[in-house]
This record gives sequence, structure tokens and C-alpha cells, in this order.
Amino acid sequence: MANDSLDTPLNLTRNALTVLERRYLKRDEQGRALETPTHMFRRVADAIAAAERKFDPQADCDALSADFYRLMTQLEFLPNSPTLMNAGRELGQLSACFVLPVDDSMESIFEAIKNTALIHKSGGGTGFSFSRIRPAHDVVLSTKGVSSGPLSFMKVFDAATETIKQGGTRRGANMGILRVDHPDVMDFIMCKRDQTVLTNFNISVGITEDFMEAVKSNSEYDIINPRTGTVVNRLSAAKVFDHIVDLAWTNGEPGIIFLDRLNRDNPTPHIGEIESTNPCGEQPLLPYESCNLGSINLRLMVRDGQIDWQRLEHTIKLAVRFLDNVIEVNNYPIPQIAEMTRANRKIGLGIMGWADLLIQLGIPYNHSEAVALAEKLMGFINEIAQETSRQLARERGAFPNFKGSRFDQRNEAEIRNATCTTIAPTGTISIIANSSSGIEPLFAVSYVRQVMDNDILVEVNPLFEQVAHERGFYSPELMKLIAEKGSIRDFEQIPEDLRRLFVTAHDIRPEDHIRMQAAFQRHTDNAVSKTVNFCHSASREDVATVYQLAYESGCKGVTIYRDGSRSNQVLSVKKEG
Ligand code: CDP
Repeated sequence: MANDSLDTPLNLTRNALTVLERRYLKRDEQGRALETPTHMFRRVADAIAAAERKFDPQADCDALSADFYRLMTQLEFLPNSPTLMNAGRELGQLSACFVLPVDDSMESIFEAIKNTALIHKSGGGTGFSFSRIRPAHDVVLSTKGVSSGPLSFMKVFDAATETIKQGGTRRGANMGILRVDHPDVMDFIMCKRDQTVLTNFNISVGITEDFMEAVKSNSEYDIINPRTGTVVNRLSAAKVFDHIVDLAWTNGEPGIIFLDRLNRDNPTPHIGEIESTNPCGEQPLLPYESCNLGSINLRLMVRDGQIDWQRLEHTIKLAVRFLDNVIEVNNYPIPQIAEMTRANRKIGLGIMGWADLLIQLGIPYNHSEAVALAEKLMGFINEIAQETSRQLARERGAFPNFKGSRFDQRNEAEIRNATCTTIAPTGTISIIANSSSGIEPLFAVSYVRQVMDNDILVEVNPLFEQVAHERGFYSPELMKLIAEKGSIRDFEQIPEDLRRLFVTAHDIRPEDHIRMQAAFQRHTDNAVSKTVNFCHSASREDVATVYQLAYESGCKGVTIYRDGSRSNQVLSVKKEG
């Protein structure tokens, strides 16, 4: 291992070190780490700062690299995992999110599978719409046989992902989307009822506003064969909606995404239509587009019990520059992705540690003040991020597809990035940063956490541990008891104000989850990763109500999970896939 003596020691937890050592650090052929976390951050900072020379051969990359290094080692901002893993290394693939097109032909389907393999190998995740594939039992003209349908082909994608798992940097993840007006939609909705199939997929039904209106008015809607473009059937919207709710209630899938909404916010409609998101749903992309994400750690943006707006602003500006640089030095898996990504230059700056921030400010997650603060804070982040992107456009030029874009149509100033903000789950980087993930409430006050494939880690929320010491009720036995429950709601030996403040995902009403998601969505260019938790006893009607509320409050999609309804969750915010 190389010498670390020039570096200040990093403030990484044992859990963070475990995660980094397992997959992020460079290794030799025997699997021994060739670098320390310090070297990893330096490798990343140097590689991303080096992009500056493309714009200015005299640029002082060392100074910027030092800034990036400080940003990451202080855990104020972390880029998505592939950037940490691959920057400055041979593979050099830095994005977490991809969408690939799947057309109704063998060539296209198997081309997509090949490209999926290349992306998964590098730690990226892929999303697809299977809506263009002709339905099962349709005609195959060349052979006069019958077609297999989208669901059969999804199994092939799933098998490819399963195989690559062994050799890749991390287990690959897929999003599969089918439009609600595809003839195979009813089968699609229940395709993951058997929890042992399609385990490398998250699935979502692509919902249209017409469909939601038809649910409301209890009417039928058209089912269309994508091969011919003709109406082949009509279904009761309410029946299909109930089917979705029933399956989501049963084991959390499918989720839903609102396609019209994604396209209303599509910044480049002249380039193409959005038909899918990345695996966790927070990043809508055009076919062949990729996006790199990064998240600011809000846990550290507090000073004297207040938000440190100045520090936050400084962090946003540096982070946007960082993410724009990533696009420059990124090594894209195939030329089409390189071209599309460089032409739109989407980045996704988001946050983690939102629940930690609220706790430090003394605001319960499920209080209206928290929702108001979400609006204010994300409004600020979005505004500064866009301002920085416009500044970058003045220095480096607008994104090449700017002409004809929504910004151009509205006569707005040139901007460097077609989108600036996304709220990611931060499943792994929040472990590295020792913060609560994304905008989720605490999962538990004390718990056993499973990361990667096998490792088990025991954790007490650090803010809770601190306050438990300060107020004199800390004991290892109590922490263990809490770990069995997760929630402290019923612990009478804990002061009541703390029981209100340290609320967990299950203490919060589903409506409050949606309100928080909607508040963040209003100020986010892309989408928001959020799971709405239900208790085990929740009814199907409860789930249906939340879907309606998500629709009415402007969310771009919903993912729900009813406690105890799935034996083994594939990819969630709490577990590295
Ligand atoms: O924390 P980290 O940067 O590792 O990732 P995340 O915020 O939990 O997930 C962001 C995105 O990374 C997901 O939406 C996927 O596109 C991708 N991802 C993946 O492909 N495979 C995983 N095992 C985890 C995430």
C-alpha cells in the first residue's frame, strides 16, 4: 500500500472503509488494495480537475484538484459510485445512469443487451422502455411464427445482468418500463409477483395523463399494438389501476412513472422523447443518454443550529463544475452514448443527509416546517446550480443541443447543462459519507445494515448516539433494544421531544412521504428518488390514495413499499445492490 504520510487522516467510519475496500479501491490481480481511500480521492480529484485543460491549456488544475479533494475528503460532496471507482483508471466510465433504446427487432434487442453488458461491467445502471416491442402472440413476418413479447425478452436482459454480476464492479441494475396502453400490460404488472424472477429489474408502468383521467371518470382507454399503431382493445382504466395497486401492495412492484410529466419537463424535445428512467427512477433520459450524479451532504451544512447558506452555495458551485468536468473526461461505453451525452450535457446534483439536517435544526421530518424548508433549500440549490451552469456556458459554451431546446424557446440565457439537479437514492455514497440517504427519513434509529452482497454492519444513528450521551440515557442495552424495533416511538425512557424528532420511515404517514417528495420535485430538474413506506397492515385503498396524491401533487413517479411484503429486496435505498 502506498505511503499516506502527506495526507491528513480521513474522517471515515468503519462502515465507510468496509464499503470502499470491498469495491472502490484499486486492486492488484490477487485482490489486494493498491490504494488507500486518500489515494482514491486524490485520483478522482486529479482526473476530474484535468478536464479544465480542455478549455484552457494554462488552467491551474492543481488548485482545482485541491478544492475537489477537500470537497470529497470532508464528505461535503460525493460523486456517484462509478466516478469514485473509475476516474483516473483504465475503465474511466463515470456515469451511474443510462437509458438504451429497444426497438421491435432482434438486432435492436440484442444490441441493447450487448450494450447493457458493457455498462454493467463498469458499474452503471440501465433503463429501458419495452413498449415498442410487439406483444406476445403477434405475427413474426419473416418466419410466420408468433412473437414472444416484451416479457420474454426482459428475461434475457435479466440473465445477462445476472452473469455479469460476477465480474463487474458492482451488481448491475435495470429499470424496465412498459406503457399502460401496451397489449401486454396486465402480464407486465404481475411479472414480478414470483419474487425469484427478474431479480435484476425494477419495473414501472408508464402512465399517461389520459389514463389517470380515465381512472377518475371510470372509463375505458385504448390499448395499442406498437407494431401496427392500431387500437386492438379497450380496457377499464380502473381495473388496470387496481391491478397495479394490488401488485404494488403485494410486494412493492410495479412502481409507476408519469410519462407525460417527464416529457413536459424534457429540456430537449427536439432531440427525442423520454420513455424511460434509470434503475431507481430519479433520472429520466433520452435513448442513448447517460447522466452523472453527485450529492451534497446536508448533514455538514449546519452551523450553530442554522443552515450555513454560504458554505452550501460554495459547495453547489464547485459541485456543478465537478459534474460538468466529469462529462469531459468520461470514457463512454459506446459512441452513440458519447455523442448524446456530450450534446445535452445533463448533470444531476442532489443531496443526502436531509433527515440529519432536520434533526440538527430540531424539525421533525413530518412537520409542515420541514416541507417548507425543503422548498426553500432545494429552490436555492436549483437556482445556484443553474446560475453556475449559465456561468459555465459563458466560459465553455452552451450544451450543443441548446438551439431549439426549451431554454431557447423561452428566450432564456444559454446554459451549459440541459438539466442540473436530480435527487438520487445515494445508497452507497451515503454510507461513505455517514449520512442519512437522499431525502429519506431515518430508516431506523439503530439497526443492522446489510451492504453489498454479504456484509452485515450494526449502526446507531450518530446524532442519536450523541444526544443520548449528552442527556444521559445512553446504554448499549438500550441501543440494542432499539435496533430490534427501529423506531423509538414507544420507548418511554427516552424524552418525548426526541421521540418526536427522531422519526423513522415507518413512523411517518405515507401522505407525509409524498408531500416531501413533491416539495423537492418542484425544485428539481430531473426526478426524485423516494420510497413511500407503508406499515404491514396498510390496505390496498391506502396505496391507491397515495398514488392519486402523488399524481395530484406533481410527482414524476411513485415507489411504495409495504413493510414485510418482500422477502429479499433487490435494489433499494437501504441496500447496495
Ligand atoms: O450511492 P451511489 O452513487 O452508489 O448510487 P445511488 O444514488 O444509490 O443510485 C444512483 C443510480 O446508480 C441508480 O439509480 C442506478 O442508476 C445506479 N445504480 C446501479 O446501476 N447499480 C446499483 N447497484 C446501484 C445504483
